Amino acid sequence: MSDQILDLQQEHSKYIEDIGDWTRTVSCCELTRADVDREVCLMGWVQFRRDHGGLIFVDLRDREGLTQVVFSPDIAPEAHERAGILRLEYVIAVKGKVRARPEGMTNPNLKTGEIEVVAHEWKLLNTSKTPPFAIEDRCDAGENLRLMWRFLDLRRPCMQKNLVLRHRAMQSIRHFLDENGFYEIETPFLTKSTPEGARDFLVPSRLNTGSFYALPQSPQLFKQLLMVSGFEKYFQIVRCFRDEDLRADRQPEFTQVDMELSFVNEHDVMTVAEQLMQRVFRDVLGKELTVPFPRMTWDEAMRDYGVDKPDTRFGMKLCELTDAVRNSGFKLFANAAMVKAIKVEGGETLTRKEIDAFTDFVRIYGAQGLAWIKIKSETEWQSPIAKFLSEEERKAIRERLDAKVGDILFFQAGEAEMVNAALGNLRVHIAQKLNLIPKDSFNFLWVTEFPLFEYDKEEHRYVACHHPFTSPMPGHIDLMTTDPARAKARAYDMVLNGNEVGGGSIRIHSAVTQMRMFEALGFTDERAEEQFGFLFHALEFGAPPHGGIAFGLDRLIMLLSDSQSIRDVIAFPKTQKATCLLTNAPSSVSGAQLRELGIRLREAPEKHADAAAQKSESAS
Ligand code: AMO
Repeated sequence: MSDQILDLQQEHSKYIEDIGDWTRTVSCCELTRADVDREVCLMGWVQFRRDHGGLIFVDLRDREGLTQVVFSPDIAPEAHERAGILRLEYVIAVKGKVRARPEGMTNPNLKTGEIEVVAHEWKLLNTSKTPPFAIEDRCDAGENLRLMWRFLDLRRPCMQKNLVLRHRAMQSIRHFLDENGFYEIETPFLTKSTPEGARDFLVPSRLNTGSFYALPQSPQLFKQLLMVSGFEKYFQIVRCFRDEDLRADRQPEFTQVDMELSFVNEHDVMTVAEQLMQRVFRDVLGKELTVPFPRMTWDEAMRDYGVDKPDTRFGMKLCELTDAVRNSGFKLFANAAMVKAIKVEGGETLTRKEIDAFTDFVRIYGAQGLAWIKIKSETEWQSPIAKFLSEEERKAIRERLDAKVGDILFFQAGEAEMVNAALGNLRVHIAQKLNLIPKDSFNFLWVTEFPLFEYDKEEHRYVACHHPFTSPMPGHIDLMTTDPARAKARAYDMVLNGNEVGGGSIRIHSAVTQMRMFEALGFTDERAEEQFGFLFHALEFGAPPHGGIAFGLDRLIMLLSDSQSIRDVIAFPKTQKATCLLTNAPSSVSGAQLRELGIRLREAPEKHADAAAQKSESAS
């Protein structure tokens, strides 16, 4: 901020007036030709000012839109003269009369583009420093700068639109759930750790030195307790906290639409969840969704798409070739636990550079490389590996993938988990790069029959795939201990355009089965009792059969608003490094605060970039 601008702002500050008895009569978005000659009072921010032929034009912005205000020396000389001080983002109140814009001066892109308001009097309500970036949809400031100045970033119409859409969706959800007999009940934030898969955020207790609360990763156990308490249908739009590695669709604190129902099976929960989505899409986008959503088992999803959240807006399914190349001269294929391929129709034109970039992409998933074949003609296959393949193998590949001249095939061989992850993610990556994904389509899908457990290679033990309160499928209770890898869960995920927007399950409501689950997870009786004693006690007192689901509200809004990141639909999000550039959290605390909590740091805290310092720099 240069001294000159500061001086100007200080000088202008003396003109600031109180709002007094002025009342805003219209928003900046509603006046049309029908309002010509109407006396109005507008209040808002100066979006733009230009001086033209003795007139001063101001685009006045409020949350609803823009209105052009004209200060004319002939009509209101005093108002015009004072308008010379107006700068970007100054806050003003204007009284004036609506008039039609002269022929040729109308703006068809603006709702109020046919009129302007001729100012008679106005008040300066506040001055503003020059913002570090333009308060417009098209803004070339980097995301970090926008996050540092989030209160200004949120003034931009596109950001306002996202948060208004979020508001609408939340109201729609509340109305639907209320109308369908759900009670909104709050649950604690300072609580005991629940194993939801991520690390907990811990909060030291001052009154119980040496003890810690955990911020909830979800209200899972409390909502189950509410079922035991007899509320039958619960919901909450609730903040959840998970200390995990962040991506574009993950935040350390995020919002769930959390639901639980008693006396239900999977079908009941999925039906009400579909109806909820129908209502939200109708209320927010005016779109009718067709229900029931398609269903796919987890096994089918992994087989055809390699991932548990398939994007079904395009084809390019994974094709298994393991048996067809079992005796291949190409040892990499012959010896692999799994060989799969995908076909990119017409992809024969992909360049070496593009293929190399895809090879780098699959390395993220542990692949060593990426084999490919370009089908140049019926007989000519251009490929580093084609020479190793027998005629019979070629025939099988051609037939199974329905490969045509002009296509390219990509292969992956190795352990099933790696092959599926590498090709499943490559499939989506290629579709995005080559623009194969239709716009404006919302493909919902249920993925069901998840494995109950997954093997944690680092901890050398089975962990719950969803969470340990998920019921095994009928007949799978014994498998929990005899063959955990084969046990399947009564769990379901709702997937939208390749994003997991919700997940839930039918719960274990028998104390005995819950105990067996903890046994399968390697808990001793003492540890299970110490951590989850309250749950066992509850299950022993007539727990009804129950199940539920939680939606990731941020992800849902991201998709509804066609945003690229959940940060764009959260008012004050954290960065990928879980910092808040606006407030500079997390930050160090005083020695006295730590002493009170009985905490001594073993190492001096690492300083993250000082946002405050960067902020004052960017403003100057
Ligand atoms: P789950 O862990 O699948 O289930 O979470 C439910 C939904 O929450 C969203 N989500 C996230 N969104 C943003 N940032 C994150 N870090 C994040 N983590 C999860 C996803 C996900 O589908 N208690 C169970 C629900 C239940 O069983 O009823 C649970 O929390 O969209």
